[in-house]
Amino acid sequence: MDVVLLGPPGAGKGTQAKRLAATFNLLHISTGDLLREEVGKGSELGQQAASYMQKGELVPDDLVAKMLVTRLHSQQGLAGCVFDGYPRTRAQAELLDGLLAELGRRVDVAVYLEVPDDEVVARLGGRRSCPSCGAVYHLRTQPPARDGVCDVCGSQLVVREDDKEEVIRQRLAVYRTHTEPLLELYGGRGVLARVPGQGTPEEVFLRLADAVRGGRER
Ligand code: AP5
Repeated sequence: MDVVLLGPPGAGKGTQAKRLAATFNLLHISTGDLLREEVGKGSELGQQAASYMQKGELVPDDLVAKMLVTRLHSQQGLAGCVFDGYPRTRAQAELLDGLLAELGRRVDVAVYLEVPDDEVVARLGGRRSCPSCGAVYHLRTQPPARDGVCDVCGSQLVVREDDKEEVIRQRLAVYRTHTEPLLELYGGRGVLARVPGQGTPEEVFLRLADAVRGGRER
């Protein structure tokens, strides 16, 4: 089963994708996390991607595609993938269709996490991330047990470079222009499920899991 998670920046895609992957035995593919890993390593790809990410722009398709293909083929013994932050454009959606078709698969369900803009800004303003293991916290709604320290691996938590208000606004604008049209694409195929993204992460997860089960039964 292959699941695409759609939604604006800060909708909770990363938070929920990790849970979905664990519950449904799926490989979690987050292009944002993969890009941040490359930036952290200082690789050529990371250096090229960093300038786009800092401005809240999309990284060029060909750079993202290379990482996606490598990660997709690293899957072993899992039931499929949950794509978090991919696709973000029509061209990326077409590429994903082609890659999955080669494996005899397709997008079974695209879940749209609906969260209003003011909530997005509040969520991203309070986000703290672990640069080592990728765990995500929120100062108010999901604080770590010890201030500034990751519960999972003990690293110091950081504020993501692109979580500054002006960059958040730009990411939202990019999302509206390039990614929102994918709702129509997946809606037209009859695989889109709209899930309200407000409420506690647990409440949102129950709705999401229902939508994914519905997709599996289709
Ligand atoms: P990426 O990392 O994918 O960022 P994003 O899509 O903007 O999404 P976020 O990671 O900011 O938010 P999220 O929805 O995962 O929310 P989270 O769970 O963390 O991409 C970053 C950049 O990389 C892009 O701008 C682009 O430059 C580049 N890039 C990535 N993919 C690309 C692609 N395919 N093509 C081109 N470029 C690409 O939650 C947010 C906060 O809210 C957290 O603090 C969390 O604790 C909290 N929270 C979560 N759920 C709830 C809840 N229910 N209630 C209250 N708080 C909550």
